[in-house]
Formats: sequence, structure tokens, C-alpha cells
Amino acid sequence: MSSRSSLAFATRARAATPGATPAVRSLSSSASSSRRGGAVGAGARRGGGGKNAAFSSVLFSSSHSHRHQQHQHRMGRRGGENRGSIGRGFRGKMTTMASLSSSSSTMQQNPDGFAQIDLFSPSKINLFLRIVRRREDGYHDLASLFHVIDLGDEMSFAKSSSETKDTLVCEDASIPLDESNLVIKALNLFRAKTGIKQYFWVELKKTVPSGAGLGGGSGNAATALYAANKLCGDVATEEELLEWSGDIGSDISVFFSTGAAYCTGRGEIVEDVEPPLPLTTKMCLVKPSIGLSTPTIFKALDLDKRSKAEPLDLLKSLNADGCTYENAINDLERPAFSKLPELGELKDKLIDATKEDGAVVFMSGSGSTIVLLGTDTVPKFAMEDDDLFKSKARLISRKKGEWFVPSNV
Ligand code: C5P
Repeated sequence: MSSRSSLAFATRARAATPGATPAVRSLSSSASSSRRGGAVGAGARRGGGGKNAAFSSVLFSSSHSHRHQQHQHRMGRRGGENRGSIGRGFRGKMTTMASLSSSSSTMQQNPDGFAQIDLFSPSKINLFLRIVRRREDGYHDLASLFHVIDLGDEMSFAKSSSETKDTLVCEDASIPLDESNLVIKALNLFRAKTGIKQYFWVELKKTVPSGAGLGGGSGNAATALYAANKLCGDVATEEELLEWSGDIGSDISVFFSTGAAYCTGRGEIVEDVEPPLPLTTKMCLVKPSIGLSTPTIFKALDLDKRSKAEPLDLLKSLNADGCTYENAINDLERPAFSKLPELGELKDKLIDATKEDGAVVFMSGSGSTIVLLGTDTVPKFAMEDDDLFKSKARLISRKKGEWFVPSNV
């Protein structure tokens, strides 16, 4: 692809693509000027309001309603609530989100004398998501602008004295703590790739909902790889961690980008780009309590009904005009709304309710999160609906060698 030369660099699992000219200009100025001119909200909008029917069909076993409560708070202030130590089963004391926001990783000694590291585990949105083709192996090649965001979990890691297993602690009963958890898969991967026979204590405090299209579990896995590597003395490079991460999931690699990444292949080919929007861009997330299963949504995609837009044209448009309804395209919206019609109705209602704010409203990943880009105000109908998860969020980036921290915007 000729326009690849406009991207800073590409790294894929196992086969690093040689670096290309870092020619993507910083678009902060053009994006913000177009936002002033209303471009964030420009373009075609879906019509209709639709009833916000009860979300009755269960497509994903999601039980995070208690987390919804937590997020009602976050709407009022930045950085999350309930910041103390999780306290159950973990030997250290978790660093609070507030202190995580000032440093990317805090290494300290825990009461058992082991080094402990506390990290913020971010999530992501897809500013556009085009599905390119269905592959023989059942996966889909995609082309998407992923952006890391500061809705995230808190994680603490320490070396364990166990010679047989990792210990994962999480108060959220819906989170599996065994080998099916991507965190344990990531630690197994780290041992297999490095040959280091070190097991770990991990404490996870979940905030990011599951089945949301936000890559919360993938962010946990990436954070675990980063932490294990730090605790073991940086035996691997970040490029190696990125390459290895493709073995256990398609969405993990993006967390080894610097924040904004044009991703292709299954999602594991990551090209860092300049953030196309100012990191100060206002954003809210709204999600029904029902999550969506990624394989189900990919299977339900009718390839004849995809957008015909060229992904690299979408990237150009995003860079030049900011986020608009013309470029905020997600090919997975149609199958997600066919599986969960209430989600399409929720999107319509959110579009109607945010017209005045000039927000652009779209689904992230395979859903069921709806992103409201360009506003910090969740519409009243959504604020009053206790079944909806609501959170403010911000786009974030990081410097190579440091880990992500929540936005201070
Ligand atoms: O790779 P990951 O485990 O995140 O993918 C979960 C599922 O989502 C896959 O088993 C596949 O069904 C679907 N998927 C896909 N194409 C992708 C990514 C995921 O079909 N690019």
C-alpha cells in the first residue's frame, strides 16, 4: 500500500515491518479548528429516535451492574472512585489511581519483601473500523484506527515465591481467575518466550466492562506483559512484547503502540500514528448492561453490507477534518444492531440527544459501547437509566519506555 509511507512505523507479530517515513503531521490544529467550525458533528446522521426498549436478550454473560454504580460517580469527576487497596488476598497495597496518574509505573517493596509494581491498565476505542476480508482461518482482516483511552483498571504485580502457578486476585466475581483469563495467558506467554521460570501475584481492580468493544481484557494482558518484563529486569524489548502478544489475542498489540495506531491484519499489525485528534477532545462512553460476544458479531457480519470507504481515506479524513460522521465508520455496527436492536435504538437516541453538542456518536469495536466524541455531557435520559454504564473518558498516549497513565485533562 503506497500510503503506508505516511505512517510512522509498523510492527506485526513475529515479522517486523521496516520503518517508514514519519510523515503524518500533527493534526491538533486542523482538527481543533474544524471542531470549532462544527466538523466533529458534521456529516450524515442516522435519523429516528426509536424506543429505548429494555435490553432483554442476553448475548454475553455480563454482570457488571455494580460497576455501573461506580461510573455514575466518575461522570462527576476525573479519575475514578474507590481508590484504596483491594485488600483481599494480595500482600501488597495497591497504589491509588491518583498516584498512578503522575507516574507510569511505581516500583516498591511489598510487605513480603518482593518488588511490586502498580500500573494503570487502559482500554481502547476504534475511531473507525473497516473489515477488509474474511480469512480462511476464521478471522477477519481489518483496517482500523485504534486509540488508547483512559477508562482503565488498576493492577498490581509482584514476583511470587510459587514455583508452579500465578495468583490472580480480583473482587469482581464475573472475572475468571484461571488460565482462561488473558492475564494468566500473558504471564504463561512471557515465561514461554523468555524461558524465565518466574510466577507472579496479580491484583486486578476492574472498571472496564466486559463485552464492551473496549479491549479491557486485552489491556490487562498487555499490562501484565509489561509488568512481568519490568519485574524481571527488562529482559525483552517492547517490540518483542508487541510481537509476542499477537499469539494470545488480536487486540493486545495496540497497547504497545504509543496510543494512536493504524492496525491491520487481525488487528495485530500495529503502525504508530500521531494522535489524529487533540488529547483534550471531550468524550463519553455509554453501554447497555448487555455485552456483545466478538465472535458472534464477526460471524453475523454480511460482507455485502459493509462500507465501501477506503480505510486510508478514512484516516486522511480523520487527520484533516477531525472526527465526522463520514469517517466514524464501524462495519460491525450493522451486525451488532441486528443481534441487539436495542443498541441501534440507543445509538439513535444518543445522536438525537447530542445534536446540540456537535458530538459524533459511534460504536466501538464489536460493541456494545457507544462512544460520544466531542461532549462530556451524557444525555439526561441515559443519566437516569441505571442499566446503562456511563463514563467520561479521554484519548491518551505514552512515551516509548513508559506505560500509560490516566489523562490529567
Ligand atoms: O483474537 P481474539 O481472541 O481477540 O478474537 C476473538 C474472536 O473474534 C476470534 O475467535 C474471531 O472469531 C473474532 N475475530 C475475527 N477477526 C479479527 C479479530 C477477532 O474474526 N480480526
